[in-house]
Amino acid sequence: MEQINDYINSHKDRFINELIELLKIPSISADTAYSQDVLETAKAVQRSLDEAGCDNTEICETKGYPVVYGEKTIDPNLPTVLVYGHYDVQPPDPMDLWNSPPFEPVIKPTDLHPDGAIFARGACDDKGQFFMHVKAVEFMIKNNTLPCNVKFMIEGEEEVGSDSLADFLLEHKDKLDNDIILISDTGIIGNDVPSITTGLRGLSYVEVEVTGPNRDLHSGIYGGAVPNPINVLSKMIASLHDENNHITIPGFYDKVEILSDAERAEMAKAPFDLDEYKQALDIDDVYGEAGYSTSERYSIRPTLDVNGIWGGYTGEGAKTVIASQAFAKISMRLVPHQDWNEITDLFTKHFESIAPKGVKVKVTPHHGGQGYVTPIDSLGYKAASMAMEKTFGKKPVPQRTGGSIPIVALFEEVLKSKTILLGFGLDSDAIHSPNEHFGVWNFLKGIETIPYFYKFYTELQKE
Ligand code: BES
Ligand code: MN
Ligand code: MN
Repeated sequence: MEQINDYINSHKDRFINELIELLKIPSISADTAYSQDVLETAKAVQRSLDEAGCDNTEICETKGYPVVYGEKTIDPNLPTVLVYGHYDVQPPDPMDLWNSPPFEPVIKPTDLHPDGAIFARGACDDKGQFFMHVKAVEFMIKNNTLPCNVKFMIEGEEEVGSDSLADFLLEHKDKLDNDIILISDTGIIGNDVPSITTGLRGLSYVEVEVTGPNRDLHSGIYGGAVPNPINVLSKMIASLHDENNHITIPGFYDKVEILSDAERAEMAKAPFDLDEYKQALDIDDVYGEAGYSTSERYSIRPTLDVNGIWGGYTGEGAKTVIASQAFAKISMRLVPHQDWNEITDLFTKHFESIAPKGVKVKVTPHHGGQGYVTPIDSLGYKAASMAMEKTFGKKPVPQRTGGSIPIVALFEEVLKSKTILLGFGLDSDAIHSPNEHFGVWNFLKGIETIPYFYKFYTELQKE
């Protein structure tokens, strides 16, 4: 395995150029105008698996965008690692905030990435990260050091909720059979503070619609006398949190996992600098649920956030109008034991119940998924910890993240396997935002670390 460093040194320019080619294709799953590009990306991913030396590569049809599959079996008696990632990306909007076009990757240094970072949509989430696995496996195949079997499953619908994946897992249970799932689609605390993600939040995403009068009205002639859907919606949304920023939906917290003081104290040991946090975001103060620290608020506590709100006149100048309708998109981040379908129902019932007479309310669920926590005494966690310790020179700390990867809970349910979340991004890499980037150092560090995971995992399995 030690040859990985030589291999990276001789091939790093090629690795980066190959990633750049992949980043040029705008695989935006949310926008059907890009569906050809999404399919094109699947083909490019398949080629990269072929070139890495994988066998039986395939573009597997689903109800939605295809899953790219590939494998290398060296001995059926050895363990099998299933690598999951996603080749689709978020829409790049708002375009005018990008310093360089989102699908024309450039490498520039930043404060946290003095060696340079690749700027492009998908650089960190998740093309740059799953590509580390393709390159790490290429190394192990070419150097005959692959210690166990590997399967790849790279999907194209993660950013829109992985809708087709539950059926795909059920249909391909045997093909996807594995001992452990390995995903790089999360991050580390810092380049000098390695960490392994041990928890993801669940998600319930809904859209709400409030309808008042049957048409837009003159705000002078009718104003004050009819329900204004935008006023009403604002009030309804405001009432979803109380003065302590607790969510007011009855039953919302019933199943929330309560951590012991000891567990909370253990988690509080992970390095976190509140001043740096505020400074990085240009905010004078943080905001959130009373009784919890910032890092608890975004990891072990559930949330409710408006993601978008619209209605009425938003064009240039002023127009005196009472709109007939108002809309909002709302996401709730959930913690272990909260069931996203139940929460969606609770939200719907509550939202309908608080609507004043005079408006009609409609709630449409979009997508969701369950949260996930993984133990730190498993072989997989130990192998990941040993691998990071080897390449970072420091033992990683376990950390729960606020983001969601709904497929992870489904993997456990359908394939009965645990997932190791071995990500290499930084929170400041601006995923889903303009100017997304991924550190070149992080990209290469991932390629260096992954082969050690295979080595240690296989060795631990034999003990
Ligand atoms: N890779 C992210 C999730 C993530 C990022 C987890 C950073 C932890 C740290 C993933 O691509 C993502 O964006 N997931 C969505 C959920 C999905 C259903 C749209 C999310 O968390 O909003
Ligand atoms: Mn992702
Ligand atoms: Mn994402």
